[in-house]
Amino acid sequence: MKERIESGKKILTEKLTRATSVAEVESLRVEVLGRKGFLRTILEDLKKAPPEERPALGKLINEFKQLAEQEIEKRLKELTGLALEERHLQEKLDVTLPGSRPPRGNWHILTKTLKKILEVFLRMGFEVVDGPEMEEEYYNFEALNIPWFHPARDEQDSFYIEKGWLLRTQTSPVQIRVMKERKPPFRIISPGKVYRRDPFDARHSPCFHQIEGLMVGEKVSFSDLKGILDLFCKEIFGEDTSTRFRPSYFPFTEPSAEVDISCQICHRAGCPVCKRTGWVEILGCGMVHPQVFKNVGYNPKKIQGFAFGMGLERITMLIHRIDDIRLFYENDLRFLRQF
Ligand code: DAH
Repeated sequence: MKERIESGKKILTEKLTRATSVAEVESLRVEVLGRKGFLRTILEDLKKAPPEERPALGKLINEFKQLAEQEIEKRLKELTGLALEERHLQEKLDVTLPGSRPPRGNWHILTKTLKKILEVFLRMGFEVVDGPEMEEEYYNFEALNIPWFHPARDEQDSFYIEKGWLLRTQTSPVQIRVMKERKPPFRIISPGKVYRRDPFDARHSPCFHQIEGLMVGEKVSFSDLKGILDLFCKEIFGEDTSTRFRPSYFPFTEPSAEVDISCQICHRAGCPVCKRTGWVEILGCGMVHPQVFKNVGYNPKKIQGFAFGMGLERITMLIHRIDDIRLFYENDLRFLRQF
């Protein structure tokens, strides 16, 4: 019996070392310590042993049981530890490695210019408002003193949606909407897309952006208009920029003017950019026409105001010396990444 216990020990140790999985060890536990296992059979045999040998044999069996339990637990711990280590190796995360950077976006150059422009006007107390791109003919033309027979309509003939509706040809209809909604005094600026039946070439696009400005109150003069636009030009084009107001015509302003800035390239010496005049046109403006005030229910004898409108693409092209408007819309990253 002694030998059986000894060889049992040996076999157990061997099998334990050879075991490579938790499951193997568990089935070994059943084999040795289970209800029909090795230990059970020798306990049965103990009953048959001569009584005087029993205490010594019983002690051996107990020792074996303890040893078996210990060794099995030990091996189990080893194996689970190994498994864990293996998992750690597989799932290793090196927090010191540099991360992979997702590509960073950038504002489109038109957006960047717009933000700058809006910022200048916000500082001067203007409020940014929005207007619809699909507009009523009345707001786009009649209310702005452009009747159906007016030649200005030809120039701006646009995309008509259905009778009475079109894609706006200018941001000026926002003036009408704001004046109808609010009471003076106020100063607003309204950027957005406009649409015209224009070709798509280096200087034109059927869709482009304008920025409309409007200031209305009881005492708003032409010198306010000059002061504000002169400051705006200096902020956007540089301190040393001069402005020039040339008489012009718009149906919804009287008097009307076009604003030129001194040529950024030649500083008025004359160059191809300014067509040798030393000046570059950047926007249209004027005092709100009395008829427009009447159209929105204001009393033109009491209320005064000025308005202006500029092209975002044109201003961006001047700042960055871009010579083809189509570059803005082609999504060519080689172009866009320069700004
Ligand atoms: N809406 C005009 C255009 O598209 C630009 C303009 C000129 C707007 C004079 C104004 C203004 O508000 O006063 O050509």
